[in-house]
Amino acid sequence: MSTFAVEIENITKQYDDLLAVDRINLRIEQGQTLGLIGPNGAGKTTLLRLISTLALPDLGDIRILGDSIRENPQQIRKILGFMPAEFGNPRNLSIGEYLDYFGCMYAIPRGEREKRIKEVCELTDLRGREDVMVKGLSTGNRQRLLLAKTLIHDPQILVLDEPASGLDPRARTELRGIVRTLAEMGKTIIISSHILPDIEEISDRIGIMEAGKLVLDGELSALRDQHRQTTTRIQLRVTASETSRAKELLSKLEGVTSCTLEQPFLVVVTDIPNRNFILAELIKNEIQILQFADDEPSLEKIFMQSTVGRVT
Ligand SMILES: Nc1ncnc2c1ncn2[C@@H]1O[C@H](COP(=O)(O)OP(=O)(O)OP(=O)(O)O)[C@@H](O)[C@H]1O
Ligand SMILES: [Mg+2]
Repeated sequence: MSTFAVEIENITKQYDDLLAVDRINLRIEQGQTLGLIGPNGAGKTTLLRLISTLALPDLGDIRILGDSIRENPQQIRKILGFMPAEFGNPRNLSIGEYLDYFGCMYAIPRGEREKRIKEVCELTDLRGREDVMVKGLSTGNRQRLLLAKTLIHDPQILVLDEPASGLDPRARTELRGIVRTLAEMGKTIIISSHILPDIEEISDRIGIMEAGKLVLDGELSALRDQHRQTTTRIQLRVTASETSRAKELLSKLEGVTSCTLEQPFLVVVTDIPNRNFILAELIKNEIQILQFADDEPSLEKIFMQSTVGRVT
C-alpha cells in the first residue's frame, strides 16, 4: 500500500475556458493535516471536490491510499469523508435521524449505526442532543452536525471545506480542538479556511492556491525559514524611556534596512543574517535590552507575499 494518504498528480479541472484547478501536484502523508488557503475563487473547493470523487478531472489523477479517483471511486468513498462548505437544505429531521440517514447511505448495519451516532455526537460535542431538530440549529451546531455526518463511517481521510465559516470565536476554538483530536486519532485531514491563524495552529503543512495553481506548499516551519531567508525581522524591546534613542541609533546603523515602532516593540529589518551587530550597538550605547527575538513570519505574511491578488 502507498505510504501517502493522498497523491495528486497533474490534476486539472476546467469550466469552459476557466482553469479552476491548473496542473496541481501534491502529496500528503498519512496522519498529516494539510491546511489549504487561497483567495476567493482560487480553486480550493474544486480541488477538494476532485479529491473527494465528487467531480472528475480533465487531466491527471489523484490516488487516495493507493486507489485512483478515476478507477476506484467507490472504494475511496468508503474511507474518505467530505464536509461541504454549505449545509444544503435539511429535511424535517432530528439530529439523530439526520445522522441515521447518512449511516444508512453508508450501509452501516442498524446496531452499529446507533453506536456510531453516539460516537460522532460525542466527538463533535453534540452528545445528548440527538432529539433536537436540525432546522433552527445555530451555525455552531450546524457545523458540528455537518462534521458529525462526515465522520459517520469512520473515514481515515477527512476533507473539510471551510468548517469554521461563520463560527463565533468560542465555536472556532472548539472546532480547532475537535480537528486536533481527529488528527491525534491518526486521521489524514485536508482543511480549507480563510481564517489563517486557525490554519496556522492546526496544520502540519500548508498549501497556498491562487488562480487554480498551487503557488506554495510545504511544512509551515520550512515556509517560515524560506521567508526568513529573504529578510530578517527582529522584535526588539527596550525600556520605554530609551525607545526613541534606540530607534534613532538603529535607523542610522549600517546594515539596518529599517527600524520602526510597533508598540511596544521596535521592529528592526536587516538583510544581514548575523544580527549580533545590532546587539553590539545597543550594548555600546548602554541601552538596556528587555527582549530581542526573531519576529516569526505569520502565515498571513507568507500568504500576502506568495499571492498577488489576481481575481479569476
Ligand atoms: N460548477 C462550476 N461551473 C463553473 N465555474 C465554476 C464551477 N465551480 C467553480 N467554478 C469557478 O471556478 C473557480 C474556482 O472556484 P472554487 O469554488 O473552487 O474556489 P474557492 O477557492 O473554493 O473559492 P472560495 O474561497 O470563494 O470558496 C471560480 O472562478 C469559480 O467561479
Ligand atoms: Mg470554496
